[in-house]
Amino acid sequence: MAALVLVGAQWGDEGKGKITDFASSRADMVVRSMGGNNAGHTVETGGVCYKLHLIPSGILYPEKQNILGNGMVIDPVALVGEMDYLQKQGISVDNLFISDRAHLVFAYHRELDGLSEEARGAGDIGTTKKGIGPAYMDKMERIGIRVCDMTDRDAFSALIKRNIAIKNTLLTELYGHVPVDEEALLAEVMAARERLLPHVADTSAMINTAIRAGRKVLFEGAQGTLLDIDLGTYPYVTSSYPTAGGVTIGSGVGPTAIDRVMGVAKAYTTRVGKGPFPTELHDETGQAIRDKGHEYGTTTGRPRRCGWLDGVILRYAARVNGITGLCLTRLDTLGGFDTVKVCTAYDMEGISVTDFPARLKDLAKCAPVYTELKGWTSDISHIRDFDGLPREAKEYVAFIEEMTGIPVDMVSVGAGREETILRGDIF
Ligand code: GDP
Ligand code: IMO
Ligand code: MG
Repeated sequence: MAALVLVGAQWGDEGKGKITDFASSRADMVVRSMGGNNAGHTVETGGVCYKLHLIPSGILYPEKQNILGNGMVIDPVALVGEMDYLQKQGISVDNLFISDRAHLVFAYHRELDGLSEEARGAGDIGTTKKGIGPAYMDKMERIGIRVCDMTDRDAFSALIKRNIAIKNTLLTELYGHVPVDEEALLAEVMAARERLLPHVADTSAMINTAIRAGRKVLFEGAQGTLLDIDLGTYPYVTSSYPTAGGVTIGSGVGPTAIDRVMGVAKAYTTRVGKGPFPTELHDETGQAIRDKGHEYGTTTGRPRRCGWLDGVILRYAARVNGITGLCLTRLDTLGGFDTVKVCTAYDMEGISVTDFPARLKDLAKCAPVYTELKGWTSDISHIRDFDGLPREAKEYVAFIEEMTGIPVDMVSVGAGREETILRGDIF
């Protein structure tokens, strides 16, 4: 297997960073394709907890090549901050490559993200306010500024000034806000430019060459299926394509290059930000999961909404991503309950719904239909062999396999790199 895609099967934060880090040991190259520093990926290894937002989780292995793909929107100042953060911890960023075709995020995108959220009032999306939506808007409007534009300092500066003029009109006249300070923006961006230029490359060429040479390429997902701009719970989504199809566009490889798609799913469901969530638990069970799992956002620190596992979502994710295997994370967090529930269908005012609906009004009418299974109470985080898991935990996994028709190839029982159970070859 040369090319493996990891994709979030729910609303993000499924543990993609941890699984990418685990699978990176087998890879030669790790690639991010979509999104920006709205992502927050946590990797725990050797007693250290790393929080990554833009840089692929393969960076902890110095010999692996790590790529920020062309589909990403990259905040140059945030990226330099992340490089500094890693370097201070002794992690080399020499093997980091940035696509010359990726788009850049600037201070005015961050401002506009916050202001448009404020303007929506109660109808806000709950974005991370990192400027992701506004940066993708510029890309689609064809006024975006790309990484390759950084090469010529004067031309780059002229493009930024042109866009500042456009954005300052919006900021002052539409939102009644102060304009962005051109000098300050240029100063921080030009300082970042110096640091980033040596890392810029035609990353699509690099990835395709690697795949042709039989090297192993791991595509690290960001966000999740239900945050996809086309396939997610629109409008409560991000502005990119976190589904498997986004990987091909966002890294410049053809679909035929992908061998396997692993869906990463938590053993339960969480979501940050607004939008419908059929299995959300507003009671003490939801709070117990949040407390036990320390379910607070990596990027914004917001409490994550928690609920039971949703099989309708998993089947939908399997369909739209072409998932070939599942990785179930946080099985340890789900321990300690006498019984655990899995939603297998929705009851929409008497109609049984098994395909995830498009209309949020329909979704809002959907009540989960649960199957209740026996829970497991012993700590499972030390277990490394699937057969060693409590019977009830194995039955839970078997239930998910039967419900989705997809094998669970990996089970994660803790945040640490080694707290992983591999069933067969993934890569
Ligand atoms: P990502 O955005 O998909 O990379 O996920 P996040 O890093 O935002 O959130 C996942 C959280 O769960 C992080 O704090 C991880 O360290 C943690 N985590 C991942 N897998 C497991 C697991 O199997 N068990 C436990 N207890 N924590 C896990
Ligand atoms: P990782 O990679 C969870 C959510 C935000 C908000 C919506 C739009 O860590 O799984 P945006 O700032 O992207 O315009 O916000 O998307 N969101 C995420 N939720 N995990 C993420 O990334 C997310 N990235 C964006 O909370 O609801
Ligand atoms: Mg996250």
